[in-house]
Amino acid sequence: MDNPRNSSGRQWPIAAGLIALALVPVLAGAVRIGEIATGAAETAANARFLRAPLPVVLHIVGALVYSIVGAFQFLPRLRSRRTAWHRFAGRYLLVPTGIIVAATGLWMTAFYEVPAVDGGALAVSRYIVGGSMLAFIALGIAAIARRDTVAHGAWMLRAYALAMGAGTQVLTSVPFLLMFGEPDVFWRLVQMDAGWLINIVVAEWVIARRRAATRRRGPAMIAV
Ligand code: HEM
Repeated sequence: MDNPRNSSGRQWPIAAGLIALALVPVLAGAVRIGEIATGAAETAANARFLRAPLPVVLHIVGALVYSIVGAFQFLPRLRSRRTAWHRFAGRYLLVPTGIIVAATGLWMTAFYEVPAVDGGALAVSRYIVGGSMLAFIALGIAAIARRDTVAHGAWMLRAYALAMGAGTQVLTSVPFLLMFGEPDVFWRLVQMDAGWLINIVVAEWVIARRRAATRRRGPAMIAV
């Protein structure tokens, strides 16, 4: 998977799949920004977004850039051939927007009056996810500062996987919604946590494969 020379055929489907995963929450975000921009009538469902729009707008714009630029950042071929782009995108697009997504997510968890179905346990999950995302980005920066490219890739992948939980949560909640209707507090928590857990498991699987490939070929092949 990581060898830039023999994996070109598998590169673009990965990026396309990640963008497809982010599509629904990003489109939902575009609708929400449209509602805010056009001064839609206030309802119980949108009052928090209309009264304090800055965090959610920053969150959605940050998530758009982070999810789409990030999808290409993990392609080994692009990374090894376009090192200057990888560095530019990482430093000026992904680190800032990753921090914005996590920080605004934490802010909204703390201060928005979320619907009752988003219970206290889901707030705890969001604090853990937002806090972990910030910590993983910091660890990714620290790793590349000491030129540990393998650890850098692993921490940045973990941060990206947590953010992309928003996409996987569409898959863990929509079938349930179609079959059983709106969830209660417990099932809402299960659906949200399942999205993050699935992504964590997939990220750890990818990281383990990369580690094995690195051991076989030597770290020089995993260029950042
Ligand atoms: C690529 C990643 C992400 C995308 C695409 C995304 C997308 C969105 C969108 C579109 C909204 C607005 C929802 C609405 O209008 O009803 C939102 C709200 C929110 N997001 Fe994210 N998000 C991402 C990552 C995160 C992360 C990592 C956290 C963790 C802390 C988070 C926490 C929240 C919270 C707390 C809200 C407010 C929920 C509410 O008030 O109902 N998001 N997100």
